[in-house]
Amino acid sequence: MTITTEEQLERLKAIGRICAITRDAMASAMRVGMTTRELDEIGAKLLAEHGALSAPMVTYDFPGHTCISVNEEIAHGIPGDRVLREGDLVNIDVSAVKDGVFADTGASFVLGVGDKRLDALCRDGKKAMWAGIRAVKSGAPLADVGNAIGKFATKAGYTLIRNLASHGVGDSLHDEPGEIATWPDKTERRRMNDGLVFTIEPFLSLGGKMADQKSDDDEWTLISRPAAPCVQYEHTVVTTPRGAVVVTLAA
Ligand code: CO
Ligand code: CO
Repeated sequence: MTITTEEQLERLKAIGRICAITRDAMASAMRVGMTTRELDEIGAKLLAEHGALSAPMVTYDFPGHTCISVNEEIAHGIPGDRVLREGDLVNIDVSAVKDGVFADTGASFVLGVGDKRLDALCRDGKKAMWAGIRAVKSGAPLADVGNAIGKFATKAGYTLIRNLASHGVGDSLHDEPGEIATWPDKTERRRMNDGLVFTIEPFLSLGGKMADQKSDDDEWTLISRPAAPCVQYEHTVVTTPRGAVVVTLAA
């Protein structure tokens, strides 16, 4: 989506805020012993209360209201009977639609007290996302986003998953201009047009390079190859001459 009217921007901000509130409420509600289905139901209730519909559910018939990925799972985890444990690395991804406009956000959390390396990975995963957000500006090369993230990741000694891209969002969950590499991509020649709405969602890892299907009988859940801890932080942004307007902040 490219924002052309104030009214469009207001609708995007409204659904962005709903997604953010849902993401944060789910993160606060996480408890040891809870199933991922119970956590998803908390998200489902909040989306419904705000008059929003789950985007993956309405778009792809995804079997959950939100994606919840635990430990070896890095994305598109299906909420179910899995019980959350102390120290689990949990990714919550919330995307939803209201009044015809879609927004998308995600974040990773360590439940309770866990491996200190995972705390550092979470802290740096956020930094990687913000490095990309700071590269947003009308007229700038779209490749600046992936290059900024790649520079941060390399300097800090991390890898990036290179087949799970950021994407346009707004009129649909996966919208124009299609996939956007959140890693350095020499083939990327496009520029950020004024008002362009897209996600910035690097997958930062302690060694992972590619996402792969978890099992033959689960078409959704993705794991890391080689196997390694991985975090994802995602915001939906609007491109302006002064930089990015982030619409998936709760406050
Ligand atoms: Co997402
Ligand atoms: Co996304």
